[in-house]
Amino acid sequence: MGPPILSRRWRCIQNTLSYSPVATRRPWICASCINKTVDRRYLQTSGSAPALSRERKPFYVTTPIFYVNAAPHVGHLYSMVLADIIKRWHHLKGEKAILATGVDEHGMKIQQASAKAGSAPRPFCDKGAEIFKQLAEEAQIQNDYFVRTTAPSHRDAVQYAWQVLLDKELIYMAKHEGWYSVSDETFFPESGVQLIVDPPTGRKIMVSIETGKEVEWTTEQNYHFRLSAFRDQLLSLYENNASMIPSQKYRNEIRASLEAGLDDLSISRPADRLSWGIPVPNDPSQTIYVWLDALLNYTTILGYPWQPDGNAMTKAGWPADVQIIGKDITRFHCIYWPAFLIALDLPLPKQIMVHGHWTLSNKKMSKSLGNVVNPFFAIQRFGVDMMRFYLAHDGDVERDADYSNYHIIERYKKELQGGLGNLASRILRGKKWDVRACVQRYFASNPAALQTSGKSRVQAQLAMMRSMPELASKAMDELSLRDALKLIFDGVHATNKFLHHSAPWAFFPADPPHPPGSAAPLDEIIFLCADFLRMAGILLQPVMPGKAAQLLDMLGVSKDARAVEHARVGSDADFGVSKGGEVPQGRRGMLFPPLVSEV
Ligand code: ME8
Ligand code: MG
Repeated sequence: MGPPILSRRWRCIQNTLSYSPVATRRPWICASCINKTVDRRYLQTSGSAPALSRERKPFYVTTPIFYVNAAPHVGHLYSMVLADIIKRWHHLKGEKAILATGVDEHGMKIQQASAKAGSAPRPFCDKGAEIFKQLAEEAQIQNDYFVRTTAPSHRDAVQYAWQVLLDKELIYMAKHEGWYSVSDETFFPESGVQLIVDPPTGRKIMVSIETGKEVEWTTEQNYHFRLSAFRDQLLSLYENNASMIPSQKYRNEIRASLEAGLDDLSISRPADRLSWGIPVPNDPSQTIYVWLDALLNYTTILGYPWQPDGNAMTKAGWPADVQIIGKDITRFHCIYWPAFLIALDLPLPKQIMVHGHWTLSNKKMSKSLGNVVNPFFAIQRFGVDMMRFYLAHDGDVERDADYSNYHIIERYKKELQGGLGNLASRILRGKKWDVRACVQRYFASNPAALQTSGKSRVQAQLAMMRSMPELASKAMDELSLRDALKLIFDGVHATNKFLHHSAPWAFFPADPPHPPGSAAPLDEIIFLCADFLRMAGILLQPVMPGKAAQLLDMLGVSKDARAVEHARVGSDADFGVSKGGEVPQGRRGMLFPPLVSEV
């Protein structure tokens, strides 16, 4: 018998039955179901139902979904790069890892931006989405999903979630008055705004104290979510589960904000003001608030609402393992988002990694201010690997980082060209030795690769090489990417020093005497330096995929010996390129050639 084909209509009704509605009502059926579209996700090609098979949950990483009101800048690239490094790291550890990024297309901000551009919202969003997608490609982000909130499947799922909240009596209609910031897409309380004189126009305007963005007084009838009912639960969540927001600074801010009190949240806008969004089910006079719509993306892209039986949710990847966000949207992700999830009976993300901002002359880079660095130009000028390295190296979790071309050039010269590139070239281009032969002889005389001559310099080098991969891996697991990079590059500089002081070039024509049965000093030095480069190359793959692959190719490391478990001293006896082998000569063969322009 062939596999069952389940229609979307079936899915809606099934899911409506998967929770206990407070009020009995006719099950709501989403727009697509009314058209009887078949949900292709449930079309099966083999006999057994895949949703029921117990597969391991993939490691799931997300970035925020970015507003398409203006072109992306380096700040957006930063969130993407961090997420991609984490995904690639888990992949390197042999896990299945998935990454979602994408765009946030609804709301007043987009409605106004498209009107200003003289375009209908849809084509305006299509263009904007394309640019963010292109950025992900150029930055070599391995995203498995690219979210668009205008996708019909997202709309249906958001309307479904609305219905669940309504049935649980967590939504009610009330009059709402307050200061609304279109730029931040949020209401601010009276205590959160102030009157200022706008310097460019001389106009007196009300702005949010927190974001400095203009606010306007708004009075309307709209739907509210009983957010206040979740305050105690959220407080105890952060009390008992500190690792959910690893940074203590942001965790304290969230706790302080919860302790100060939590109002219910307005979650719709009248459609005559905001038409560009998802209509409230059964009430087209209201449009769903863009943040409720947007936050749900993390689940809808994985197929929410999942079938109630089996492990479809887990198999798809929910809950997220790491959600990366900038510090500007902590309230939305650390208060509203967990409250929505608890209300929907969904598990909470395991970690929310908040990062600081990139500034330009110490002012936050922002699309609305226009003080931004074009990430496409930056990648073109410095190369994708350098940009990924710079952002991960200089960007920070709790502090803001000021973007500077000068610093990029400095890091390139000191860490990459002068550090890693120099070490690779000294070892691989040394005229007096053959790396493959040294590695072979070293293993022949010292099969465990861990016996060293008694020299303290050699011992110190080996000790560093034994601890570095472990410490760097721990830092990566703890999301301390900067620390991991520092450990690797401290090792690079130490190895360069080791090579300098060991001076193997001085051994010729005669190798110094050494006790029989131990490795010859030349072999020992070249092996230790080459093995350090091999381990650094492996560990740097998530950060600089192109350059790390080039380094490993130059070292002759086989493609199947590049996983994390190979980043241990002596774990690979087969690497090493012979003289005149695969290392191309001249500029082409240089890992980090001189920058064309340094201005
Ligand atoms: O807030 N430095 O979208 P958005 C570092 N659509 N990161 C920055 C940055 C900067 N100067 N500027 C932006 C939204 N970012 C919503 C999100 S999610 C369900 C909805 C990054 O286009 C950072 O990740 O304003 C920040 O949180 C995000 O872009 C905001 O992007
Ligand atoms: Mg923003």
